[in-house]
Amino acid sequence: MKRHKKSVIAAAMAMLLLSACGKETLEDNFETLSSISAASLGTHIENAERYSENVSVKTASAEQTKKGNILIAYFSRWGNTEYPDDVDATTSASIVADGSKRYGTTEYAANFIKKTVGGDLHRIETVTPYTADFDELRDVNHSEMQQGFLPELKESGLDISAYDTVFIGYPVWATSVPQAVVSFMNKYDLSDKTVIPFCTHDGYGAGNSYREVAEASGAAITLDGIAIEAKDVPNAQEEIADWLKKIGIPVAARQTETDIHITIGDTVLDGVLYDTALADEIKAYFPLTISMVGYGGREYYGGVDFYPQNLEGGQKNFENGDITYCEAHHNMAIFYAQTDNPNLSVDVIPIGRVTSDLSFFENLSGSEKVTFSLAE
Ligand SMILES: Cc1cc2nc3c(=O)[nH]c(=O)nc-3n(C[C@H](O)[C@H](O)[C@H](O)COP(=O)(O)O)c2cc1C
Repeated sequence: MKRHKKSVIAAAMAMLLLSACGKETLEDNFETLSSISAASLGTHIENAERYSENVSVKTASAEQTKKGNILIAYFSRWGNTEYPDDVDATTSASIVADGSKRYGTTEYAANFIKKTVGGDLHRIETVTPYTADFDELRDVNHSEMQQGFLPELKESGLDISAYDTVFIGYPVWATSVPQAVVSFMNKYDLSDKTVIPFCTHDGYGAGNSYREVAEASGAAITLDGIAIEAKDVPNAQEEIADWLKKIGIPVAARQTETDIHITIGDTVLDGVLYDTALADEIKAYFPLTISMVGYGGREYYGGVDFYPQNLEGGQKNFENGDITYCEAHHNMAIFYAQTDNPNLSVDVIPIGRVTSDLSFFENLSGSEKVTFSLAE
């Protein structure tokens, strides 16, 4: 078991400040927090920033990240909280609603990382869920921090040895890492990994959390993290992609792609499948022939007769060339035009892309048998 060194001063200060708040909402709590001790909190945040500037300014060398398998582990209140069935996703501070789906704020950011660099998502889940009541949760968190309590995590079958790079995502709680995330870092041996923290917050930044991740993970290398304010998370894809580039995780070299062929009539097009759990699942059905029809001058789609299980990472837009699976319509599609107007009414999950010239699709009959197969 690794030793976890908490920043006692930071935790105590955060506890003092947060427990001094008697207001109803999270926003009010943080307002009060800033007014009662803006100076001391400022010093604390400055210290944390200085630490982040001077100590953890690290980027990966190409060698370190080029061939690494990536895990994106994250903790969010959503998925770890006993919310009432009718919880209001639009006003709750910790739920992002995207179409009919709901995500934790940090979970949403984790999905952006996966979309950009591939890898596997892992939700950190405690055996005992947390309360939905913010004031109670704040008190529970304070007492967990004070006692150094490490909540038990659900068994997940995660094989950490399969990964070289581990992103660790969390909501900042009392300027620190939630204890459940400390549990994760204690449970798994990260000593030979490259660990990269990312967090969401309500305006006070990463606090002391990057230092805590570096210490508690005992990672061989810890790269610079990113802290995104919760209200900015739904539109943070570009910011996240810029950060990943800055810390040296090249977007283009991120995925191990599998070469495939897409055969339509006498024509064989080239493509790739991404290294994702869903693409792997669908690959098992190759060679896969689908009757596809043209739609809207932008895509060919057709139903499939299997029901994949790995359905993370849906999005309502596309890039030209995308090969996607759509859970709602239970079909696959190839998008070939109109990336300038990519708005979809349902989620699609990219599993690969066509790499041949897409103009071929413009002259098709409107109804085609399309066969996906592995390239020899
Ligand atoms: C117990 C608790 C403590 C929090 N402490 C802080 C804090 O110190 N600074 C801050 O900016 N936000 C704080 N927040 C707000 C969360 O970090 C923020 O809402 C986060 O985006 C929620 O992410 P999630 O939806 O993934 O749980 C706190 C929230 C909770 C529930």
